[in-house]
Order: sequence, then structure tokens, then C-alpha cells
Amino acid sequence: MARRLMQAVQYDGYGGGPAALKQHVEVPVPTPKKNEVLLKVEAISINPVDWKMQKGMLRPLFPRKFPYIPGTDIAGEIVEIGPQVKDVKVGDKVVTKLSHQYGGGFAEFAVAPESITAVRPSEVSAAESATLPVAGLTAHQALTEFAGVKLDGTGQQKNILVTAASGGVGHYAVQLAKLGNTYVTATCGARNIDFVKSLGADEVLDYKTPEGAALKSPSGRKYDAVIHCSTGIPWSTFEPQLSESGKVIDLTPNMSAMATFALKKLTFSKKQLVPLLLAAKKENLEYLVQLVKEGRLKTVIDSSFPLSKAEDAWAKSIDGHATGKIVVEP
Ligand SMILES: NC(=O)c1ccc[n+]([C@@H]2O[C@H](COP(=O)([O-])OP(=O)(O)OC[C@H]3O[C@@H](n4cnc5c(N)ncnc54)[C@H](OP(=O)(O)O)[C@@H]3O)[C@@H](O)[C@H]2O)c1
Repeated sequence: MARRLMQAVQYDGYGGGPAALKQHVEVPVPTPKKNEVLLKVEAISINPVDWKMQKGMLRPLFPRKFPYIPGTDIAGEIVEIGPQVKDVKVGDKVVTKLSHQYGGGFAEFAVAPESITAVRPSEVSAAESATLPVAGLTAHQALTEFAGVKLDGTGQQKNILVTAASGGVGHYAVQLAKLGNTYVTATCGARNIDFVKSLGADEVLDYKTPEGAALKSPSGRKYDAVIHCSTGIPWSTFEPQLSESGKVIDLTPNMSAMATFALKKLTFSKKQLVPLLLAAKKENLEYLVQLVKEGRLKTVIDSSFPLSKAEDAWAKSIDGHATGKIVVEP
């Protein structure tokens, strides 16, 4: 049976930035496979990886095929389910993460695997929940799996540094870290110092000052883990600020970071640099949604744009100065 058409935003090849996003493209509404759900999309959030893929920075892995509809973090209502879907039903409001390989978020409808689709309660808006998948899950994974922070507060006390604490991942990392038994130092620009304090950071450094650039804790602490959400900081800056077995969890490792990672591993160094690659899990997404519902995790939306202005949202993310998350609404 022929599927009806929907509006989507797509690009046809690498490069071109916001201007290369094609608006008002008409494509068939996708059909859910046996373990998939079809959503009417209500909100999408942008992550830097979306435009990095367009730039070709993840070539040849993603995207593998053009034209490509970008966007992975979406919230919406289920309008159709595949025959083997069990835990969600038509009419459920959900949040999910699409694969980077197929994308599909910047559209009126999108298909998602049931395995990463979490139901959202009415207290959590579509826009709020759409900000959670990549940014929230990355912060969660960095803290719980890599930094060993127990979010129920039962763990040993740890000193945590969050760089770029005003950004999408950073604003979640500060708040989640404070659910654990941590002392949080954070870096951000001068205009966001009060904002980052309001998220719970114990001390905040302006990254443009000499102390901020040196990542020096004002209270003289050494960090057990750094959730490194900014870029361009060499190992030689981190090293003197780490505790005896401190770790830098690098979200955007470059060649030099990968060399440091290998060297520290090979020499059994106690201080380590570890690259993080998000492995999204449904139970963690459900946990984050629950925290938002309970008011224990605050979502900060920098700006929101209609799908017809997707190129403005794209440009805003490329600019790199968002406070919190950028949202697009069909
Ligand atoms: N490995 C993974 O699986 C994974 C997952 C998620 C994200 N990431 C990566 O993690 C990075 C952060 O992502 P995001 O979504 O949080 O980015 P984002 O929201 O675009 O970050 C923007 C924020 O970073 C701040 N910032 C920029 N440079 C800074 C610096 N040197 N020191 C302190 N703050 C700085 C900006 O503040 P100002 O405006 O004041 O400059 C702005 O508030 C990106 O490179 C992304 O690709 C990786």
C-alpha cells in the first residue's frame, strides 16, 4: 500500500552547513519494522554530532547514504507499531533516540526501535524530553560507568570537574553529579557563572581567565574525574589537576587525546584519559525522564525553532554558544 507523504528536512551530501539543509521535502511516511514504532514527531533536539556528520567528520561511518534526514533525539506520540512491539502502544507519548546511521528526526513522522523508546509522563513536555537522549545519556554514562559516581549518593566522595558546564551535556553532568556524593567544579563563560551555580556546581571557573584555562580548583581540590565536554585542552593542562588515579573522560577525543589514551594504558598509568562513545540504554533514558518528572533534573532550553527554520537551529548549534539545548518543533 502506498504510504502518504510527509514534510522533512534533508541534505544531499557532505558540507554546505545550514544552507545545504533542504526544507519542505516531501517523502513517504516511514513504515515501522516488526520491532519499531512510528511517531508523530513533537520535538527534536540538536546535538553537535548532527552537524559534525554533515561536515563529514564521521565519514565513512555516518551518514552512509544520501539524501539524509538528520536528527536523532525526538519526542512524539506513537501512531503505529510493528507486530512484535510489546511494551508501548498507539497513543503513548514517548522519547527516543534514532540511530546516527539512518537519522530521520527532522520530519513530521519517524520510526524508532522499541528497545530505546521510553514512555514520558504528562508532567514532562515533548521539548523537555527530546533534550535528554544524547546529552543526558552521555552525562549519565560518563558519571556512572566511567567516573564511578553512584547517583543515589551512596558512593565514596569524589571531586568532579565538568568542562563546558553550560552546554547540552555539561548542564546535565553538573546536576547528575550532584545527585551523587560529589564536589563539583565547573567551567563556563563569564555570562553563565550564575547559571552553572544554580545547577548545583560548588565552584565555577570562567574558562577565559588564567585560573579557568589552567582548570585550577579555587579550593585546591584535585579531580578524581573530569567530564570533559569542551575541546582543545591538552593532557599537560589536565595532568597536574588530577588526583592520584584521576581520569579524564573525553567526549570529543582528537588524535593527540587518542595517543594519550594509548600511552597511559600501555604504561599502566594511574592517571588516565578515556574516550567515551555513547551506548544509549532505555533504562537510563527512563531514569532521566523520571528525574525530570520529579523535578530533580532541570532541562534548560536555549532556544526553539519551528521545523521550517531548521537551518537557524543548525547555525545556532554550529556557533557553539548555546546555554543548554536547542530544540526544533515540527
Ligand atoms: N562521545 C560522545 O558520545 C558524545 C556525546 C555527546 C556529545 N559529545 C561531544 O561533546 C561536546 C559537547 O557537546 P554539547 O552538546 O554539550 O555541546 P554544546 O551544547 O554545543 O556546548 C556549548 C557550550 O559549551 C561552552 N563552551 C565552549 N567552549 C568552552 C570552553 N573551552 N570551556 C568552557 N565552556 C565552553 C559554550 O559556552 P560559551 O558560549 O560561553 O563559549 C556553550 O555554552 C561536543 O563536542 C559533542 O560533539 C560527544
